[in-house]
Amino acid sequence: MWEGSSEFSSREMKSYETLMRIQRVVAQRIRGPYARWSNSSEILRPVCIVLLFLLCEGCARPSAHEPVTLALLGEWSSKAFTEERQLELQQFTQETGIRVSFIPGPESSWQRVLLWRELLDTGAQGPDVYDMDVIWPGTLAEYFLDLKPYFSNEISAQFPATAAAYTVDHKVVAMAYRPDIGLLYYRADLLRQYGYREPPRTWDDLEIMAARIQAGERAKGKKEFWGYVWQGAADEGLTCNALEWQAAEGGGRIIEEDQTISVNNPRVIRAWQRAAHWVGSISPPAVVGYRQWDSLNVWIAGNAAFMRHWTSAYVDSQAAGSQVRNKFDVALLPSGKSGSVGTFGGWGLAVSRFSSHPREALELVRYLTRKDLQVKRARVLSAPPTLPELYDLPQLREPNPHFRLLSQAFRTGIVLRPSNVSGKKYQDVSEAYFQAVHSVLAGEKSASQAAAALENELVRTTGFKRGPPPPMGSARP
Ligand code: GLC
Repeated sequence: MWEGSSEFSSREMKSYETLMRIQRVVAQRIRGPYARWSNSSEILRPVCIVLLFLLCEGCARPSAHEPVTLALLGEWSSKAFTEERQLELQQFTQETGIRVSFIPGPESSWQRVLLWRELLDTGAQGPDVYDMDVIWPGTLAEYFLDLKPYFSNEISAQFPATAAAYTVDHKVVAMAYRPDIGLLYYRADLLRQYGYREPPRTWDDLEIMAARIQAGERAKGKKEFWGYVWQGAADEGLTCNALEWQAAEGGGRIIEEDQTISVNNPRVIRAWQRAAHWVGSISPPAVVGYRQWDSLNVWIAGNAAFMRHWTSAYVDSQAAGSQVRNKFDVALLPSGKSGSVGTFGGWGLAVSRFSSHPREALELVRYLTRKDLQVKRARVLSAPPTLPELYDLPQLREPNPHFRLLSQAFRTGIVLRPSNVSGKKYQDVSEAYFQAVHSVLAGEKSASQAAAALENELVRTTGFKRGPPPPMGSARP
């Protein structure tokens, strides 16, 4: 791709300057809320890969006869997901002659969106296709093509929550390829051993069961064993966990659909307080630094009775080498006073409006969201499809008995983060929220102090009014 000349042309120089700018901004952002990570090669590596890729692209002069190569900036994922995606992309090249370079983004969803925004702000022609979390359309809509004209049939066949999450002002910003939800993973073998016939129905049950199993396992010599692991680091994952605790108690969605900031209420405060008591009792003290991989590692090492995680943890839990393989099962999260909910998540694909290959990019999105690929992904990766009609296929049910729960939960058991109502402010809203919850978990603030301060901050950030959450039973949490 590189030309022999040692001198930069003006185009190359511009591209280089852009990259330096991105690097500076990204590095500054990483030093912000991610201060502890500023030396972490795990975060910087993917950023550098993207920068390097774009620099190469900036210097390349493709000939008219060269096949098109698209750049896909993607979800950071496990070995199984990455290998499957490589196979999918190879098959795409065989079918169409279009090549695809896959560039993995940083691990944290929150970190990823910073990078996406910086890249898009530069107007860079590549990447052509971007992975999109369900919470980003409000922030990034302006940078992407409207996919509605190309996918109207497919969109209407999806779960309504999926289609709604990717629609901003009637524009469809991305096509979903997998919906996601927070779930409870539990050690079925240990539950049986300790005399429990079913997973905990309520958060109170979970506390009791986790404490008993933890004490029992430790008495047998497993000193590292914990009752419950989850994602407590100051990050988007904590926004998802804490929203589940409070929504299950009828504490609302932080900011309601009608722009009411509802977070400062007694049900939220109680839910946060309860979680703070887990730290160091049924959950490790280090849980306040856990992201997805940290909790998963404790779980697959066989060192936890329960884990809150996403649908993607299923395939890793069943992988060769996992200590919990064939020993666990999956349930909906426990209920509070208002019911049981999992935070709605998931991923889609968007086409950059700066792409020089929009036709090919649309073809890639069509291919990666195709029904046969979703079926294969469900079989190989236990990735839930976006299409409700696929959930009854025996070939999907057989390796994924938990899909029965999911197809219902995606309709009635989800809580949505306040991303669409917050629009471009969502990153600020989520950061203010996860920092507030984190300060309670870390014992720095009481839950009532943190909720009051958060309410003020959200009023300043959004200009919305404060008010109570919807009465319990009036609507879905
Ligand atoms: C999962 C979800 C995504 C969420 C992220 C938070 O990847 O699918 O929606 O934002 O976790 O860590």
